[in-house]
Amino acid sequence: MLSEKTISIIKSTVPVLEVHGVAITKRFYQLLFTNHPELMNVFNHANQRQGKQQAALANAVYAAAQYIDKLETILPAVKQIAHKHRSLGITADQYPIVGQNLLQAIKEVLGDAATDEILDAWAEAYGVIASVFISVEAEMYQEAEQQQGGWAGYRAFRVERKVQESSVITSFYFVPQDGGSIASFKPGQYVSVKMDIPGEKNTHIRQYSLSDAPGKPYYRISVKREDTLPSKPAGVVSVYLHEQMKEGEVLWLSAPAGDFTLDLEDIRPVVLISGGVGLTPMVSMLNTLVDTKTDRQVTFIHAAQNGEYHALKQQVEEKVSQTSGAAAHWCYSNPTVLDTGAFHKEGYIDLPWLQKVIPNKDAVFYFCGPVPFMAHINRLLLEWNVPAEQIHYEFFGPSGSLDQP
Ligand code: HEM
Repeated sequence: MLSEKTISIIKSTVPVLEVHGVAITKRFYQLLFTNHPELMNVFNHANQRQGKQQAALANAVYAAAQYIDKLETILPAVKQIAHKHRSLGITADQYPIVGQNLLQAIKEVLGDAATDEILDAWAEAYGVIASVFISVEAEMYQEAEQQQGGWAGYRAFRVERKVQESSVITSFYFVPQDGGSIASFKPGQYVSVKMDIPGEKNTHIRQYSLSDAPGKPYYRISVKREDTLPSKPAGVVSVYLHEQMKEGEVLWLSAPAGDFTLDLEDIRPVVLISGGVGLTPMVSMLNTLVDTKTDRQVTFIHAAQNGEYHALKQQVEEKVSQTSGAAAHWCYSNPTVLDTGAFHKEGYIDLPWLQKVIPNKDAVFYFCGPVPFMAHINRLLLEWNVPAEQIHYEFFGPSGSLDQP
């Protein structure tokens, strides 16, 4: 239990964190990787380079500081992060390491302003926050291990099949190397994929949504090849998976995790909207609804540049045709002559079109895609007065905010 004094010190440093949050976490990562180079095998360096992870951690620390006397208020956020940590294999003994380096970074960035009193208060508060994470994650590890076909940590899987789904998206079907059963999962969940890539110093871990329904003898992920862009280098892992990984090769998977999941108890109509590779959790949700013979009205909407970039089209059309209450709609931003007659809307999704293709506004909406795409869809739904309770979305990569102009 923190003292009143500690709580008030922590709360009074929130404005300081607002100003220095990103600088502190940036310095923190430099210190962390210098003092513990083994952790370079755990963190995603592409996220580091783009500063995304710094922002995510800064936001989490800021939120925790603001709610330090009522941490239960931020439990949903803690759980979302804990899912990610559990999926990555983060352990309790790594928390003090992070704490020490974070405190050192606060000290260095704040300079004289970081009095012993402030540093002590932060050390204490970090301990409280860390113990919440550790206990939530301990429960998640236990659940993952005790589930039928489940496991804690990483398990060897073989690439049973590799299927090109579009010019940039390829599916990988994984089966366990030990021949055992695999855990079920909730549609929308992801796995961490861990691998050593020839020529790379560190092990790489990435999260990918499962793109098929549970209950199969395999896990399927569908990966977009991240080619070089003016704003960012090519994705080391996605390019390796696409170009080098062969059927029969082995990599490591953690058990499915994540809290962006389809509520199968709900009986309301459901609308699944995706942009680009954001379709992977949506296809998992669609396939699950169809496999479980849902009575719900299901609307699947996918936005792609054009047919060349449109993955899993035929599979989705087949699934939708198996259920009377389901429909799929394709929106191409930049169709070519080859796409004539193969899509339903040209340009971007807009509200009049959404209102035309969605039979019932009292539906639950799930969407996923690039951040500007999600911000656009969120805005349209709010403009349509869809209550926030009916809106669910997931960020690929570190979580952020959809409050974009
Ligand atoms: C991811 C917060 C402790 C390793 C994250 C994210 C947040 C966060 C907000 C981003 C989640 C997302 O993507 O949605 C925290 C807080 C901690 C803590 C508040 C302490 C109380 C740790 C520890 C480790 C760790 C002890 C182990 C060394 C990671 C890794 C990621 C992550 C590897 C994924 C980032 C990436 O590679 O892009 N954490 N974390 N975290 N955390 Fe933590």
